[in-house]
Amino acid sequence: MPSTGSSKLPLTNLKKYLLKYLKLTKLRNRTMSASGLTYLITGANRGIGLGLLQTLVARPNTTVIAAVRDTAASSLKSVSVGQGSKLISVKLDASVEADAAAAAKELQTSHGITKVDVLISNAGILDPANISPVAQTPVAAARKHIDINALGPLALFQAFLPLLEKSSSPKFLSITSSIGSIGGMEDFPVPFFAYGVSKATQNYLVRKIAFENPKLVSIAYNPGWVQTDMGNGAANGVGMDSAPLSIEDSVAALITQFDAASLDKTGSFIAHTGEVLPW
Ligand SMILES: NC(=O)c1ccc[n+]([C@@H]2O[C@H](COP(=O)([O-])OP(=O)(O)OC[C@H]3O[C@@H](n4cnc5c(N)ncnc54)[C@H](OP(=O)(O)O)[C@@H]3O)[C@@H](O)[C@H]2O)c1
Repeated sequence: MPSTGSSKLPLTNLKKYLLKYLKLTKLRNRTMSASGLTYLITGANRGIGLGLLQTLVARPNTTVIAAVRDTAASSLKSVSVGQGSKLISVKLDASVEADAAAAAKELQTSHGITKVDVLISNAGILDPANISPVAQTPVAAARKHIDINALGPLALFQAFLPLLEKSSSPKFLSITSSIGSIGGMEDFPVPFFAYGVSKATQNYLVRKIAFENPKLVSIAYNPGWVQTDMGNGAANGVGMDSAPLSIEDSVAALITQFDAASLDKTGSFIAHTGEVLPW
C-alpha cells in the first residue's frame, strides 16, 4: 500500500489533468463557435462554387448564401450544414442587371441578413461554341462573355457594398482566370478570346476596387484548370480528355487562400497554389 504522502501525488496530477482538459475544451469550444461569418457565393449550385459552398457551410456557426439562377437546384438540397450554420439561397442571374440589387434587398428583408463578410464572385461562362481566336470570334460572343463574367460581378459588387461595409473585415474574392492575364499571355497560347477578354475585364474590376476601397480586401484567384463542366469543356475544345485538377483539390487550395486573404494582399492576382500571378 502506498503511504498517505505518496497517494497525494496521483490526486494532484489528476486535478492538474482535469484543469488542463477543461481549459482545452473551453478553448476548443471557443474556436468551434468562432466563425460567425457570412459568405455569399455566386454560381454555388455546381462546379467550383458548389465545392466552396459545401466546405464553408460544413463549418460551425457560418452562414452561406448560395446566389444561383435556380434556387430549387437539387445539388443545394443534399449539402451538409455544420452545427449552428445556415444555408440560404437567393436568385441571382448575372445576365439580369437588377438581380443583384434585388437579392441584396431580399436577403435583408426576408432572411435578416445584416452584413456580408466574404463576397465570392464565382459564377461564369466559357461557351465551348466560342473557342476561337480574335479574328474568328463574333462580337456578340465577346459581348456575352463580358456581360456575364465581368459586368455581372460589377453589379454584384455595387449591390453588396453596403452589406460588406457592415463587416469588420470585408472581403471581395473573385474567381477569375489566368486566361485573362495580359502580363502572362505568353504562357496560355489558347484560342479562348471571348472568355479571355471577359476575364481580363473582371481582373481590372478586382484591382480597381482594391484601389478605391482601402478598407476592403479585393483579390482575384485563378483556381487551376479544374474538372468542372467548364474546365472539361475547355479541355475538350483543345483536344484534351479532361482538365487536370480535381474539384476537391482546387477547392481545398482556394479555401486555404481565402482564409489567409488580408489587406496586405489586396489588389493582387493569386493562384490556388498561393503563387502571385501577373495581371
Ligand atoms: N474550371 C476551370 O478550369 C476554371 C479555370 C479558371 C477559372 N474558372 C472560373 O471559375 C468559376 C467557376 O467555374 P466552374 O469551372 O465551376 O464552371 P461550371 O461548373 O460551368 O459552373 C459555372 C457556374 O456559373 C453559373 N452561371 C453561369 N451563367 C450564369 C449566369 N448568367 N448567372 C448566374 N450564374 C451563372 C452556373 O450556374 P447554372 O448552373 O445556373 O448555369 C454555375 O453555377 C468561373 O468564374 C470560371 O471562369 C474555372
